Amino acid sequence: MNTITSKQTPWQSKLAKTTTFQQLVREHGCVQVVSPQQLQETMQTWERTFQNIQFFPAYKAIRSPALLRTIKKQGWGIDVSSQGELEQALKEGFENISCSGAKSNKYLEQAVQHNCLICVDNFSELQRIQQPARILLRIANPEYSEHTDIAKKTRFGIDKKELPAIRTYLKEHPYLSHTGYQFHGDGYTPEMKAKIIEFFLQEILLDTQERFTPEIINIGGGIPVLKHENAQEIQERVVSLQRGEYNSFLTPEKKQEYEKLLRKELTKKQPQDYIQEILHTQSSQGVSIQQLLKECQVQLMMEPGYSLFWNTGCSGFHVIETKKIEENYVIVEGTMFSMSSRMFEHIFDPQLLSNQKQELYEAYIIGILCREDDYLQGRKISFPQQPKTGDILFYFNTGAYAHYETTESQQQQKPAYYYLSEKGELKHDL
Ligand SMILES: Cc1ncc(COP(=O)(O)O)c(C=O)c1O
Repeated sequence: MNTITSKQTPWQSKLAKTTTFQQLVREHGCVQVVSPQQLQETMQTWERTFQNIQFFPAYKAIRSPALLRTIKKQGWGIDVSSQGELEQALKEGFENISCSGAKSNKYLEQAVQHNCLICVDNFSELQRIQQPARILLRIANPEYSEHTDIAKKTRFGIDKKELPAIRTYLKEHPYLSHTGYQFHGDGYTPEMKAKIIEFFLQEILLDTQERFTPEIINIGGGIPVLKHENAQEIQERVVSLQRGEYNSFLTPEKKQEYEKLLRKELTKKQPQDYIQEILHTQSSQGVSIQQLLKECQVQLMMEPGYSLFWNTGCSGFHVIETKKIEENYVIVEGTMFSMSSRMFEHIFDPQLLSNQKQELYEAYIIGILCREDDYLQGRKISFPQQPKTGDILFYFNTGAYAHYETTESQQQQKPAYYYLSEKGELKHDL
């Protein structure tokens, strides 16, 4: 069996069985549903567990207005990465906003005007701020001892070598309030993140000698999530890849990338465990990072995206039909963009919602775009039986980034977006 089973998030399992959901999928072809309650539950748990961390969820990971409202209701801040996101956050009434990413003049001006925390990406951007503003310096290359192949060099942020020149500039422009530092990167172990925090604490020490009073260290997102039910299934897929038995349209190079992707999945932890490990890592001062931050009176801030939202959403695709040209194909009423599969390959099997019972059927899932690469996933999927017209393929845990590549290319319809209300009704997520 060519199977990788996703974590079965309970509200999603329940939703998949309802006729209302199934009718919506048949009506729209592709539907994404999010659950504000799931998000609220996660936020409340994190809040209880990590009372000394300020979480500013990364807006970029979602499109859902309902989820945005939920974050506001919880009283959390938000991290935006564009002028559009900033405008939506302001409309929703957010007052605690941090602004990341490269910034146009308009985005920057609006951020200053609304007293946002500006995560400065480069020296030139800093020089474009002409009015009083609270800034965090985003550093591209803080120190860390190890380097894994998943931790990539980032093009975002300031080279740490520029820090002395930046301090001089900040002294000459006292209307810029140096509030602290930011870093974001994927693939870092808790120990590496702890080292990054220590690096920033040392910089803060240098800052205080120059009479600056920075008080925040923001270590961004990139928190891993354990999303699989069964690690052995993933190990088996890796082995079948290595044996060259992996039947796929992928090129050899892409197969290697796929193998890496699967292996990476095996290293994942629960987000809360990962954060705890950062906090409990022993610093070079002999105390934990948590204790060191407390002693230095520095606030830790994080911008979780994937790890906060992954299980807040799920997706359904209507099966149009199946066909065979040497391989089997299931054609669904959606496209590779409906799940942003180019950006985040969803490695888990969809569940087939069907009443029929037949024999095992292995197939690729393809969309309705008139282009060769419109595959929803890069590997063949084993179905308990051959999907039939009117069946539904249900994907668990597509709450983060699944909207990213949404497009109307070839005038195809976008997915329909709904949220699950407190009363359990499906409402348009406009
Ligand atoms: C500055 C910043 N913060 C937070 C995030 C969220 O990251 P993740 O979804 O890995 O948690 C990103 C993602 O690209 C980012 O660029």
